[in-house]
Amino acid sequence: MQLAVQSDRVHLGAPCAADIPGGREAGHDGGTDALCEEEYDMAGSGSGGVEGVTGGKSRFDDIYDRPDPRAYFRRLAPLEYEIPHHAQPVFRQVATERAALDDGRPHSPAVLDVCCSYGINAALLNHDVTLAEMYERYTSPARQAMSTAELAARDKVFYAERRRPDAVPVFGLDVAAPAVHYALEVGLLDAAFTDDLEKGSPSPRLRRALAEVGLITLTGGGSYITARTFTALLDGARRPVWVSAFVLRTVSYHPIVRRLAAHGLRTTVDVSRSYPQRLFTDERERQYAIAAVRVLGGDPAGREENGHFHSLRYESRPDTP
Ligand SMILES: C[S@@+](CC[C@H](N)C(=O)[O-])C[C@H]1O[C@@H](n2cnc3c(N)ncnc32)[C@H](O)[C@@H]1O
Repeated sequence: MQLAVQSDRVHLGAPCAADIPGGREAGHDGGTDALCEEEYDMAGSGSGGVEGVTGGKSRFDDIYDRPDPRAYFRRLAPLEYEIPHHAQPVFRQVATERAALDDGRPHSPAVLDVCCSYGINAALLNHDVTLAEMYERYTSPARQAMSTAELAARDKVFYAERRRPDAVPVFGLDVAAPAVHYALEVGLLDAAFTDDLEKGSPSPRLRRALAEVGLITLTGGGSYITARTFTALLDGARRPVWVSAFVLRTVSYHPIVRRLAAHGLRTTVDVSRSYPQRLFTDERERQYAIAAVRVLGGDPAGREENGHFHSLRYESRPDTP
């Protein structure tokens, strides 16, 4: 399976541009390097990193499983973590389009936000709130003194007041149990799951929920999950499932693209447009990212070289009309 390019939009799983008369080849960054799948295979051993330069990304495990989101926002604020902000209009649009698709089922399909953490994408999708307001809320000095119970009680009211009329059901999957429980408690998620699909199969409860899922969303999780998780999710799907994912340019998404293709999904990515994810923690991380992007055939000039991780947006939809 190879990668083809029409203009700046790349269709993964189609013939290579080099095989298309008049086809323009593009690199990872929308440049002029050819980037067929075999090159990705040589470059990256799979999602989650690049062989030879793995382990270069700073870890934030200590802020993922707190009882509430305050430490998460406090820690990420100086790093300007912003990918959920870029995903917000995209996920709203894709969720609307997916909900409009008549798949013969009486209820609206659910969105499954994978690596959902404290329900940030669910908050931004279904509520009139911005990521900037969430940073302000969870880092404000007044809220640092509150107990988690007090914060949760106030969040429940805050989000209920901002609930959008077009809100869709959102399920969350994340191995960090305290985080998803918080999101559930304050009403951001309709159901929460902590199954680690990298290590095992979906529980019966998750299996039942997967039958309702019509859209999978992902931000900030491309370094943590692999095709294994996507296989488990799609094996359990009973409705047409679309995937909308923002994945770092330091990570190869191709193993996942291949697995999605095996489930009848065609993936597109506009390589000319990248989305800043966050500042690097230090020069060591910057050097790691520059090297990782280069290994995957990308050009870090003007992007990673300038101090930010950048993500690409991948959209996967059934390849039948
Ligand atoms: C960088 S955070 C992203 C959170 C949120 N999506 C955002 O963009 O703000 C990565 C999340 O992936 C979760 N994670 C790590 N390994 C996972 C796995 N195997 N399955 C599901 N979630 C996982 C972590 O617990 C963490 O909450």
